[in-house]
Amino acid sequence: MTTQTVIVTGAASGIGLACTKLLLAEGAQVTAFDIQGERMAELLPADDENLHQIAGDVSDPAVCEKVVAETLDQFGKLDALIHWGAAHSSARWDELGAEECTRTLEVNVTGSFLISQAAAKPMIKQGKGAIVLCTSTSVLHGVTGGEGQGGPAYVASKGAVIALMRSFARALGPEGIRVNAVSPGITETAMIESYSEEQRDNMKQRFPLGRFARPEEIAEGGIYLISDKASFMTGETMHINGGSNFG
Ligand SMILES: NC(=O)c1ccc[n+]([C@@H]2O[C@H](COP(=O)([O-])OP(=O)(O)OC[C@H]3O[C@@H](n4cnc5c(N)ncnc54)[C@H](O)[C@@H]3O)[C@@H](O)[C@H]2O)c1
Repeated sequence: MTTQTVIVTGAASGIGLACTKLLLAEGAQVTAFDIQGERMAELLPADDENLHQIAGDVSDPAVCEKVVAETLDQFGKLDALIHWGAAHSSARWDELGAEECTRTLEVNVTGSFLISQAAAKPMIKQGKGAIVLCTSTSVLHGVTGGEGQGGPAYVASKGAVIALMRSFARALGPEGIRVNAVSPGITETAMIESYSEEQRDNMKQRFPLGRFARPEEIAEGGIYLISDKASFMTGETMHINGGSNFG
């Protein structure tokens, strides 16, 4: 099997960090990308020749182009992008201001677009590639924000990611590029660190499995979607939520 070359965003924390470590353990070449460069450098190995780290903001088009260019320089190809990086917004509808709303959409929607656009260009030349974007169960629940939960800006941004994924899947399918999304349920990461114990206990009652996800359990979904095992999947959302979506 040939070595996969993968850009992983959100690599300084939670699901993206877990995904980077799992891919490195499989022998993949990884460009780890996150706005928190120092944190990423602390948490990932400094001496792994299969790892290249880049700090920057995914909503900046020049940064996204740089991430792809450095990956090609370092590893000579780009097989896949798994884009976990995202901004959170917990403000409720009556607290949310235009600035936070716009910034959340800029990072989560425009950022998803820009990094996918940049990654697609070399993949088109190669005639093959896979892109995974990240949406959220909050889109199905219509969560309202407050106490660390996603509010309207976050939920709207994650809804838009599904539409963006579908648009890319249709545009890039004829080029041999598959585009899918992972929709995580509540996962034990920094994104939910401000949940109270009471809130956590209440929310866990929605989960038939009785607990939240570990970051690795979500990361594995993205790794599956970029693999040849998912060679006939495109335009789909993979839900990984411990059964919290039904009943
Ligand atoms: N944790 C959950 O319960 C949950 C549930 C549903 C969906 N998700 C989604 O899973 C993905 C991973 O989230 P997580 O739980 O690991 O959260 P996290 O906060 O642990 O990690 C998110 C990472 O994205 C990075 N990031 C934020 N803004 C960025 C920017 N402008 N440019 C580059 N990087 C940026 C952060 O620095 C951070 O390292 C996100 O897309 C999130 O929306 C998480």
